[in-house]
Amino acid sequence: MTSPLLMAMPGNEKLAAELAAMLDYELGRVEIRQFPDGETYLRLMTSPEQRAVAIMCTLDHPDEKILPLLFCAATARELNASRVGLVAPYLAYMRQDRRFKPGEAVTSRQVAHLVSEAFDWLVTLDPHLHRYGTLGDIYSIPTRIVHAAPMVSLWIRTNVSNPLIIGPDSESEQWVAAVAKDADAPYCVLEKTRHGDRSVEIKIADLVRWQGRTPVLVDDIISTGQTMLEAIRLLRSQGWAAPVSIAVHGLFAEQADRFLAQAGAQVITSNTIVHATNRIDLTASLARAIGEIATP
Ligand code: R5P
Repeated sequence: MTSPLLMAMPGNEKLAAELAAMLDYELGRVEIRQFPDGETYLRLMTSPEQRAVAIMCTLDHPDEKILPLLFCAATARELNASRVGLVAPYLAYMRQDRRFKPGEAVTSRQVAHLVSEAFDWLVTLDPHLHRYGTLGDIYSIPTRIVHAAPMVSLWIRTNVSNPLIIGPDSESEQWVAAVAKDADAPYCVLEKTRHGDRSVEIKIADLVRWQGRTPVLVDDIISTGQTMLEAIRLLRSQGWAAPVSIAVHGLFAEQADRFLAQAGAQVITSNTIVHATNRIDLTASLARAIGEIATP
């Protein structure tokens, strides 16, 4: 039987190659380039005919990636792939999960609809599920979620002595509690109010009873970095050293990485989005999930 194919969209080549090696999949080749007018040219250089295909595309900067991704999936289907799945270690458009003001687009649902139409299955890693209980609330295809918590805990156990795990808001409590339990450390959560895309207010409890521990902020996403920066500012104002700041997905919009470095934070991310701060390797966990869902 022919082995499944794993195709990497631009920027995903390294993780795709590692996954293909772990799963014993063939790494397919896709040629993608822009026409002078900005339209996309796409050609599958490896035939998907009668083969199970997984397309890998982490979805930071999603607006420029989604259209070529849909072209790739549609082409694989037209050329008779037996199934076409999406591996999106970072799944975009999960945060607009409600019409907060009249007339707003609930983009999480709309992107879920596009992806569900184009693919047979989806594997992702810690999607931002806040007001949705599961991906099944908006995705109509089978999905698998990989959880980073065990590998985050392992990184903390291996690299931080005497940690205090800190979640930036009450939403993060369940997740932070799991990380802390595995890291054998105490935890607390701060109280965050978001006033706008670039403005957050955080209230911090008195952490004096944990003095002497190393503060470790843990969040699912760093986007503008304002959440981390405000938490760091407050911790420092209470006399703590600059914390270790861990996020699963490092989006680092608007040079957030530079501002976090200036604030003295040691920033650590997972390899769902390629960045110099990648220290937590989730390749094996992703490979397990792909293996399970792609082989029904
Ligand atoms: C929000 O609910 C998330 O858990 C993150 O705290 C948030 O996305 C971080 O965004 P930013 O870096 O822009 O503060």
